[in-house]
Amino acid sequence: MIKKCLFPAAGYGTRFLPATKSMPKEMMPVVNKPLIEYGVEEAIQAGMTDMCVVTGRGKHALMDHFDKNYELEHQISGTSKESLLTDIRSLIDTASFTYIRQSEMKGLGHAILTGRPLIGDNPFAVVLADDLCVNTDRGVLAQMKALYNQFRCSIVAVQEVPESETHKYGVISGEMIKDDLFRVEDMVEKPEAGTAPSNLAIIGRYILTPDIFELIEQTEPGKGGEIQITDALLKQAKSGCVLAYKFKGQRFDCGSVEGYIEATNYCYANIYKQPSAATPQKTEQKVLEAEVA
Ligand code: G1P
Repeated sequence: MIKKCLFPAAGYGTRFLPATKSMPKEMMPVVNKPLIEYGVEEAIQAGMTDMCVVTGRGKHALMDHFDKNYELEHQISGTSKESLLTDIRSLIDTASFTYIRQSEMKGLGHAILTGRPLIGDNPFAVVLADDLCVNTDRGVLAQMKALYNQFRCSIVAVQEVPESETHKYGVISGEMIKDDLFRVEDMVEKPEAGTAPSNLAIIGRYILTPDIFELIEQTEPGKGGEIQITDALLKQAKSGCVLAYKFKGQRFDCGSVEGYIEATNYCYANIYKQPSAATPQKTEQKVLEAEVA
């Protein structure tokens, strides 16, 4: 059972300056909920309970968000506003939150390695909160966890992107082993125009087996002088197995202004305006029941 989910959240969010000058980019609201909360809900829906956050300087708001605020609770207790805290309250009751500081920004691979003391020797999920993923039926992490239970190896989520966009992503190529599932043979971080091995781009959802930590330790700085998880995963793919999964659902790149606006419009119309949307506990229960069955 995968219980732990790692959230690398130490980055600066420079594309959203000045909004992110003193506010963590993961706290940018999509309608009325911070980006990272969508990721935590997705992890809970997949039956994960231990949220491990890699933070950096100036990220206190993140920790405060996933904690009780007694003064506020007292203030709105018994008023019509109280219901606005229902979701976050149940989320805090369902999951635990632990934090570790990344003092230097040396890339996503380095951020994941920084989280090692929180993860230990367990398979774990990684969520990049910038990538907001929605699916009406089963969340992307729940889909990936089901695959992990079957194949027991690292899995990256991929989506098809136009060739003109491949330079923004890690890109994989591999052999299709069944519908929407590939065994990775090659993987390149942000390939130069015209050199991408395919149009299957990695998006910010990973399931990693713990041997990845050793592989990251052995990984030299790559694209942009940073330690890339893509390079460590390629080593894992060469020596064992890594799968790439074309997930069901929609993904919004909230690291870009355009994607953020699209996500906001989508969430306003489909989540905020649909008060019957399932709470994390209800959906987790459903997933657990499905796993038992
Ligand atoms: C990171 C990864 C990249 C992946 C992307 C998904 O890049 O390094 O392989 O495709 O996330 O969002 P970043 O966007 O952090 O530069």
